[in-house]
Amino acid sequence: MSNTSPPTPSVPRPSGYASDAPTGRVRVHHLREMKEKGLRFSAVTCYDATFARLVDAARIEVVLVGDSLGNVIQGQETTLPVTVDHIVYHTAAVARGLRHGHLVADMPFMSYRNADVALHNAGRMLAEGSAHAVKLEGGAEVADIVRQLVQAGIPVMGHIGLTPQSVHAMGGHKVQGRGMTARKRLVADALALEAAGCYAIVLEAIPAELASEVTQLLKIPTIGIGAGAQCDGQILVIYDLLGLDPHGHKPKFVKKFANLGEQVLAALTQYRDDVSTSTFPGPEHVYHDPSVAPPSAPGA
Ligand code: KIV
Repeated sequence: MSNTSPPTPSVPRPSGYASDAPTGRVRVHHLREMKEKGLRFSAVTCYDATFARLVDAARIEVVLVGDSLGNVIQGQETTLPVTVDHIVYHTAAVARGLRHGHLVADMPFMSYRNADVALHNAGRMLAEGSAHAVKLEGGAEVADIVRQLVQAGIPVMGHIGLTPQSVHAMGGHKVQGRGMTARKRLVADALALEAAGCYAIVLEAIPAELASEVTQLLKIPTIGIGAGAQCDGQILVIYDLLGLDPHGHKPKFVKKFANLGEQVLAALTQYRDDVSTSTFPGPEHVYHDPSVAPPSAPGA
């Protein structure tokens, strides 16, 4: 792709779009204000500058460089092999394409196992990746680490419910928060994260009733993924919502807003056919040297 391509046209702002700031940048306080006004915001994952430009043009408020890049970019079975270097690299790429969206970098597995490690790695996300905030998985057990990051001036998004970095401890990717004990624990975790200074919390794969209760209980916004319609915001993995993997497993909570996988496959097949039949490149795709006679047509 050439870097002389025209800027991506943006769609008009939906009413209630978070960013009315002079810079046009969505910030932490805009999300809180949206919750207070009862306005929903959207979030997607993103891993490169080209998609970041499109996400920004659609005025999506929150953009997460998720460790789901382990699955969708690297082809890993789990998110566990993702490193801080990987997230920093992709966050910096997304930042180059993003002028409006609030950019969150995911803290990968073991990158926040104690406060010193967390401060070092979260600092890299902001300083090298140009993220505006970090996200980390866990409840009350990570509250102290959250507190220290927030004290250091690093906004932190929490993530509870199904936390993919604990896939082995949870015995698989399973719905969480079912039953009285699990419900109480999840509510306690949400309150502990809010008290520690998180500015928002992702609720993944929990019953809609529980997500609704937590959303009403908290002053900070909740962002649901498989957590029902009552959360303050929603997040999806961008490849899932675009239908980029036509044959992959689709969790119940994913809605495909497009079938790009099929379109990409059709385009690539057409390209291969056009090359094999010499239909591509055509005359309009070819350079000439005016000082050289054009090649004569075959059989002329
Ligand atoms: O890594 C990720 O993409 C995430 C979202 C699905 C919330 O954590």
